[in-house]
Amino acid sequence: MPAVRLAPSILAADFGRLADDIARAEAGGADVIHVDVMDGRYVPNLTFGAGVVAAARKATRLPVDVHLMVVEPERYLEPFAAAGASIFTFHPNATRHVQRHLAVARELGMRAGLALNPADPLTLVAEALDDVDLLLLMTVNPGFGGQRYIPASTDKIRRARALIDRHGSGIWLEVDGGITVETIAEASRAGADTFVAGSAVFGTPDPAAALRELRRRCAVEV
Ligand code: DX5
Ligand code: ZN
Repeated sequence: MPAVRLAPSILAADFGRLADDIARAEAGGADVIHVDVMDGRYVPNLTFGAGVVAAARKATRLPVDVHLMVVEPERYLEPFAAAGASIFTFHPNATRHVQRHLAVARELGMRAGLALNPADPLTLVAEALDDVDLLLLMTVNPGFGGQRYIPASTDKIRRARALIDRHGSGIWLEVDGGITVETIAEASRAGADTFVAGSAVFGTPDPAAALRELRRRCAVEV
């Protein structure tokens, strides 16, 4: 059974009390803080940039797990490293020179990740496994929180887990979108080990309790 890492997404947090919400997530046992960066071009939504990455960095001792849903993500390598990003994950179809950008992310002291949309094939990352520390599978279409988990994701998680295990380098398998108490156990059984949750955490009155329940649901063998 892979590990269970919980990655609450601040996309669903109260931006007026971001540090408090991050502290509540940390108290609930979060393993990383997930920061969803959107540019209004790669996805229709616009969120935040290096300033909020830096604010998250200041607010927690946990790794800051930055997910860039932007075109030309390479433009943000240096500013996000300087802002304190721990993990830099981008979409391979948002740029041209994927391996180079992964290598630069590592050279800048960040862990490097690739993110796939629901209809993106695993072949988009198969040649880059030596260069990634994290593979993120979108289990909704990127752009907005509060969407429903796409059921076909479960088989893709299984196939990604097999790909990662064959490669044998301990790449984190992160799932993002529609992860709730109803869906996390299925994603965990399929082989995911890192779980992004926004509305299921910060959309509740007690984010710490919500995180504890998400972890409990993973542990329950059904
Ligand atoms: C979509 C975002 C969301 C967010 C999680 O682009 O990446 O998936 O992290 O949102 P919830 O957990 O509310 O689906
Ligand atoms: Zn995300």
